[in-house]
Amino acid sequence: MKDFRKLLSQMTIEEKIGQLTQYNANLFIQSDADITGPMADLGLTKNDLKNVGSVLNFKNAKEVYEIQKKHLEKAPHQIPMVFMMDVIHGYRTIFPIPLALGCSFDMDLVEELSRMAAKEAAAGGIQVTFTPMVDYVRDARWGRVMETCGEDVLLNSRMGAAQVKAFQNGDIKQPDSVATCVKHFAAYGGAEAGRDYNTVEISEHALREYYLPAYKACIDAGVDMLMPSFNTLNGVPSIANEWLMQDVLRKEWGFDGVVISDYNAVGELLQHGVAENLKDAAKLAFKNGCHIEMCSSGYIQHLKELIEESIFTQAQLDEAVLKVLQFKDKLGLFEDPYHGMIPENEEATCLTVEHRALARKGAAECAVLLKNDGILPLSKEVKKVALIGPLADEHEIIGFWACRGRNEESITVAEGICKMIPDAEIMVVKGCGNRFDDCDTSGFAEAVEAAKQADVVILCLGEPQKYAGEGNSRTDICLPGVQTELALAVAKANENTVAVTFSGRPLAIPKLDAAIPAILHMWMPGTEGGNAVADLLFGDVNPSGKLSMSFPKAVGQCPIYYNHMNTGRPKSPAKESRHVGYCSNYIDCGNLPLYSFGHGLSYSEFVYEDLCLSSDEFQAGEKITVSISVRNNSDRDGKETVMLYMRDMVASNARPVQQLIDFKKIEIKAGEIQIVTFEVDETMLRFWNNRNEWVSESGLFQISTGYADHLILTKNLYLK
Ligand code: NOJ
Repeated sequence: MKDFRKLLSQMTIEEKIGQLTQYNANLFIQSDADITGPMADLGLTKNDLKNVGSVLNFKNAKEVYEIQKKHLEKAPHQIPMVFMMDVIHGYRTIFPIPLALGCSFDMDLVEELSRMAAKEAAAGGIQVTFTPMVDYVRDARWGRVMETCGEDVLLNSRMGAAQVKAFQNGDIKQPDSVATCVKHFAAYGGAEAGRDYNTVEISEHALREYYLPAYKACIDAGVDMLMPSFNTLNGVPSIANEWLMQDVLRKEWGFDGVVISDYNAVGELLQHGVAENLKDAAKLAFKNGCHIEMCSSGYIQHLKELIEESIFTQAQLDEAVLKVLQFKDKLGLFEDPYHGMIPENEEATCLTVEHRALARKGAAECAVLLKNDGILPLSKEVKKVALIGPLADEHEIIGFWACRGRNEESITVAEGICKMIPDAEIMVVKGCGNRFDDCDTSGFAEAVEAAKQADVVILCLGEPQKYAGEGNSRTDICLPGVQTELALAVAKANENTVAVTFSGRPLAIPKLDAAIPAILHMWMPGTEGGNAVADLLFGDVNPSGKLSMSFPKAVGQCPIYYNHMNTGRPKSPAKESRHVGYCSNYIDCGNLPLYSFGHGLSYSEFVYEDLCLSSDEFQAGEKITVSISVRNNSDRDGKETVMLYMRDMVASNARPVQQLIDFKKIEIKAGEIQIVTFEVDETMLRFWNNRNEWVSESGLFQISTGYADHLILTKNLYLK
């Protein structure tokens, strides 16, 4: 690592502060004479801009090249800029949204897809991605559930770590590696009522057990940067939250990387009402260790003053600047400010045949077969197919926040199915729209007529992709518009009806479940979505996804999650549908979700047998082996995620009814039996108690396999 002390001694205070700021690319590509508009709004001068250390939201490799080149022509001390962007589920070749990726329970696949994204993004000039987003979440109303991987902390942690590993690829200096930034620290996913940016109030035990571990897992995996969240956490916005940013992040976890604010989050401390003015906001953020301010001007305008007033010292400023310079050096930018990127290579690196094939595989692996009364898979000999619904021939299924992904480059369901069964007659009828206010039912008659004529109906329903993502929370998570009515009318006309559903969040679809014999949930599958639908419906791929987040029966059940407490008045799931007084159930729909976390069908039938523990008692420092035999009781090869759960039966704190402690995805040939083994140790049985310590308590635990409310086999384990 270079010694930057000499460089620091030559830099002016303005040059140093510039390294701690980040602005949008448009500021750097406008004409030199143009100081009105965005630049004036931010209170910036041309002189400020030449010191700025990093850029976000640029168009492509060519633009990065031009901005960097122009910058270096005038840059004091030749310090290169660093270029950052959000690569959430692919760069140009788009794969399923992260919530869907979680459903694969396949970390090798997550790594493969993330490597592909890294290669394309690096060719596009991206040196750092604001990924992984590991905000634990329990409320499907929140628009940003699509960016998370759901309601389980172990899955979240493994997914986050896999993404860090794949993007950074061992050495961020490599031209096809991209540095990562874990976000949004912390508990952004706990927004009250699922409303984006809303207040977060979480007990310390819930924070420690559910919300914090995935950020820590990314730090352990070597993430280089971290972004604090927009929300207040127990009253204090994250970026100004000393307990979070100093006590937990630095002192407890020892995080030593670069911290960048979220977009305008320093400026928003005024709206939160914890800073009187921008100077105050800059003071709070800098004091709590925010190195780079994104898109507000608190540092540029006030940090110098704060040092002159001895609120901060020169040495503190130097430490922050050093951190940024060292990070740029780790990226190799002082030797090669373009990070190996050649603008002419971007097109050839992106959307290749191989990348499309990988996206197709990914989309199929992440889909979840929610219901199948036996109608699926469909025969390729089918003569007449009616493809009905607003998403039957729709390109907008790649998902929100698709970086450089282009809707027009995606494969629609109609295109995928036409290629799969070229000799069949395929009728495509939209039937209705899929926005909230699409109430027009005049297309129903044509849809019903097509359904009557067809051997099989494939209904393609769901949310528009813009209904999830940042700022896109919903109060009702049903199928928007009159899609449910369309589905019921079509299913009445033809009982061979299959629904293929698309969304960026779990949906409440009880009527669809009651009326349609098979439902395949695709989430937002990405560029190759339509081909993946065809692969799954016609059996070329056997579905293997399992839900990363529960689908409620009604939005009023939110937040709903599998790892809930028992309460003092639980009701047995067997009595779910009957009202029994004085228990915790809702009287109108019970407590269980429509489909729980972990649910997902296959065309194979898997039989779980012989759950064995190497010992039924053990103590701290020892390990026991748990084995389960899984038999593929069908004539189709398939994949199965075997999940291991535990329940602490009696403890000084009430404990959840289930906690996932490990999982493995296996491939099993038709008729084959596989023994799956897990190791369990005492650390996996710990919880955060009211004295703020991780502890395990001796006594009885249950070890189970199956999923959530559908545990198949259970054994007792005693911790001495
Ligand atoms: C705001 C979002 O909250 C964050 O996730 C993202 O990384 C930044 N904008 C930059 O695009």
